[in-house]
Amino acid sequence: MNVLVTGSGAREHALAWRIARSPSVQRVFVAPGNPGVAAMANAENVSLDLKPEGYGEIARFCREKGIELVVVGPENHLADGLADYLREAGISVFGPGKQGTMLEASKSFGMDFARRHGIPHPKSESFETCDEALDYVRNMPGPWVIKADGLALGKGVTIATDRDEALETVRKVMSEGAYGEAGRRVVFQEFLEGREVTAMCLTDGDYMIPLPLARDHKRVGEGDVGPMTGGMGAFSPVDLEPYGSGLEDAIKTEVLERAVAGLKADGIDYRGLLYAGLMITRSGPKVLEFNVRFGDPETQCVLPRLEGDFAEALLSCAKGTLRRYASGAPASSGGPLRVREEACATVVMASGGYPGSYPKGIPIYGLTGDEDGRPALACKAGSGGRDRETIVFHAGTKVDGGVLVTSGGRVLSVTALAPSLEEALRLAYDKVSSIRFEGAFYRRDIGR
Ligand code: GLY
Repeated sequence: MNVLVTGSGAREHALAWRIARSPSVQRVFVAPGNPGVAAMANAENVSLDLKPEGYGEIARFCREKGIELVVVGPENHLADGLADYLREAGISVFGPGKQGTMLEASKSFGMDFARRHGIPHPKSESFETCDEALDYVRNMPGPWVIKADGLALGKGVTIATDRDEALETVRKVMSEGAYGEAGRRVVFQEFLEGREVTAMCLTDGDYMIPLPLARDHKRVGEGDVGPMTGGMGAFSPVDLEPYGSGLEDAIKTEVLERAVAGLKADGIDYRGLLYAGLMITRSGPKVLEFNVRFGDPETQCVLPRLEGDFAEALLSCAKGTLRRYASGAPASSGGPLRVREEACATVVMASGGYPGSYPKGIPIYGLTGDEDGRPALACKAGSGGRDRETIVFHAGTKVDGGVLVTSGGRVLSVTALAPSLEEALRLAYDKVSSIRFEGAFYRRDIGR
């Protein structure tokens, strides 16, 4: 089959890379894609208008190119209704419609959903006026976990330990529009102590397949300090000590299965990826947030750990046949999805200044093939045998005058798969140290 992926980040590059490796796939198109996609053998970037005005053109493109499956990458494409439109046009889509997207597009909706369906979550309260939110801070003890209700590129969360900082945050979000419309309402969540884990599953709205657990590093600085970012690195598997496999079962049954059943009970036809951002507390996992798309950068370290025909699994979600796929995918297609024993780590290389302002257009050196001193474009798998691989997923890069330059805050997701997490981290950091661009920085404590 041919597949269209929408988006341009390292997550979409990783999706295209994994889909392209599926036995059932001939060609992957990515709109708009990035230079890393352009360097892949059976993938290409396409320029399509991804705004609602362009949906008709996307449907025509799918018919012309024999696209059997569209995988919608970013949440804003889903929130705008791309999946709904294409599904109505008879095209199979992996990604929920607008209704399902509310789980992520409104944090208060997500917490209310968890409450109604008995999914463990922190106590939360939401406010639509700045005065009410300020009163809440004045009257409640800290720390205060303050979230912009809407979509804020993963940056709309502040944990304030000081009351003045909490009051200032509320004013910035609600009165000064720090996150625009996303901050029209704020959600306060009970502060929980524990370790964060990302649990994702593929679902057709009825059945679900859990993906390997991962952990990301959200703050910009080593030791988890400084502002929140979209994510500075991730690794999988995660250490479940002291809970062991009982925790994995609890995540599956109390969170993922209840959420899929809850969506069905609410009449929401949900075909796509369901993401639960969890805090593992002494009393078990609690959902801090739901997302409706693959995590970034978790996807970059989860997909290399999957074996089997990934594209067929996504298509089965889109068609509502995931249970059949799970029980009967033929061995000729790689069989049903399986999780590899190897560990995987991703280190994000970012532009100096991120997550604040940063320069763009800085030449990138050190990717494979830079004879003549010119930066090369390749996302090249490293050698090292079946159980070791290094992959550079592109995010904020572009080609300018034949030269690869930076074009965003998170520039590259340098990923390595190896028999142990320690070795995967070593391989990833070895690769990172061979890539250079002015101002580049990365956290040195990923996976620690
Ligand atoms: N890594 C966090 C997210 O994807 O939302």
